[in-house]
Amino acid sequence: MKTNKNISFTYKEFDSAEELDPSDRELLNSAKNVAANAYAPYSGFHVGAALRLESGKIVTGTNVENAAFPSGICAERTALANASSNYPGDRPVALAIAAVSGKDHTKEPVSPCGNCRQVIAEEEYRNGKPVRLILGGKKKIRVIENGGDLLPLQFNSDSLKVNSH
Ligand code: THU
Repeated sequence: MKTNKNISFTYKEFDSAEELDPSDRELLNSAKNVAANAYAPYSGFHVGAALRLESGKIVTGTNVENAAFPSGICAERTALANASSNYPGDRPVALAIAAVSGKDHTKEPVSPCGNCRQVIAEEEYRNGKPVRLILGGKKKIRVIENGGDLLPLQFNSDSLKVNSH
């Protein structure tokens, strides 16, 4: 029997950072500021990510590119790896992303790439806690309460256990 299924999720869109909760606004500002430290000589796309941990601490990261292109890493994964390595047990609750292209911050919000979505999903899975995404752009800001919503039907640790019960 065939069944049609549908997956949808709701997210918020804001016109300006002024409308964000103060804590999310601070996080987005950290992401915007750290974008200046990106090493992106090949793409010229400077990305900053700022992760809020449960303790309130902010951990940041940027993209770090490489002449061997696939060896480069995105800002989101730099920040997540930084937090996991240096603050184990302090679970991430929110991740803000912003980017500078040319001389200015992008008009449109930056969305995490597929690789980063997978890593964000693992973080939620391992911590049993959603990671709120704050995707910053000059024109609009998107807030997605569960990062995993950007990766429906995801492959995760449950997928590995499928035949082992
Ligand atoms: N990039 C990020 O760091 N995060 C994203 O969300 C999108 C893409 C980086 C990868 C590469 O260094 C540059 O931006 C252009 O793709």
